[in-house]
Amino acid sequence: MSGWLKIVGLGPGSEAMITPEVTAALQDATDVVGYVPYVNRVAPRAGLVRHGSDNREEIRRAEHALQLALEGHRVVVVSSGDPGVFAMAAAVFEALEGGDAQWRRLDIQVLPGISAMLAASASVGAPLGHDFCCINLSDNLKPWALIEKRLRLAAEADFAMAFYNPRSKARPEGFARTLEVLREACGSDRLIIFARAVSSPEESIHVTTLGEATPEMADMRTLVIVGSRQTRLIERDGAPLVYTPRSAD
Ligand SMILES: C[S@@+](CC[C@H](N)C(=O)[O-])C[C@H]1O[C@@H](n2cnc3c(N)ncnc32)[C@H](O)[C@@H]1O
Repeated sequence: MSGWLKIVGLGPGSEAMITPEVTAALQDATDVVGYVPYVNRVAPRAGLVRHGSDNREEIRRAEHALQLALEGHRVVVVSSGDPGVFAMAAAVFEALEGGDAQWRRLDIQVLPGISAMLAASASVGAPLGHDFCCINLSDNLKPWALIEKRLRLAAEADFAMAFYNPRSKARPEGFARTLEVLREACGSDRLIIFARAVSSPEESIHVTTLGEATPEMADMRTLVIVGSRQTRLIERDGAPLVYTPRSAD
């Protein structure tokens, strides 16, 4: 079987954050499959077919990629950031598990990328320097009650928290509720970071407190980090550094 499937992460935006391994896979590919804006990040070239599809098409897109690989194509499925973090790797395995038995014979690899929370964290210092968790705030694939339960328990356990998909245009109320729950659980002085479009020309980074934070500070291009009790600022010339020390009592 000459076809293969590589599920890769393109990093948060900047070319410099794409790993050499992912660049090599893209150079070798006959087909690139993914959500349109991510497929558009791969330059067109002779011998490469780019298959862009809509946001909500993950399973159909995954099945298409698996079928192309079975037919002998060298297929790269692209995600932003890391493909294993709220992205296409799990979708491909969901399709594989429920689909054509022949797909299980394929050569499949997952190539990691720099996830948005890591780029966002690095842009301010080291807020994820001690224990942390990350939560997808979208309630597309899980009930809101479960998100709220996880928020409360993560706050109680004093994790720093990284939030993906914080606020969509269709469901802006979820993030307003998130801020309410966190203020109640963590108090108003807790640090919060809004890192938007990290590593792209539109990057903006805003560090504030839960008391000062408003829902409009986040959109779907924002990664939000809420510190633990230990997370602190180091004031200096220029932007302060935010970090969480490595130890806890
Ligand atoms: C569907 S998730 C994909 C996450 C991706 N697989 C990763 O590892 O970064 C999309 C969410 O990632 C976050 N995100 C992706 N790229 C970002 C960037 N450059 N800056 C800030 N947040 C980003 C946003 O929260 C966005 O709503």
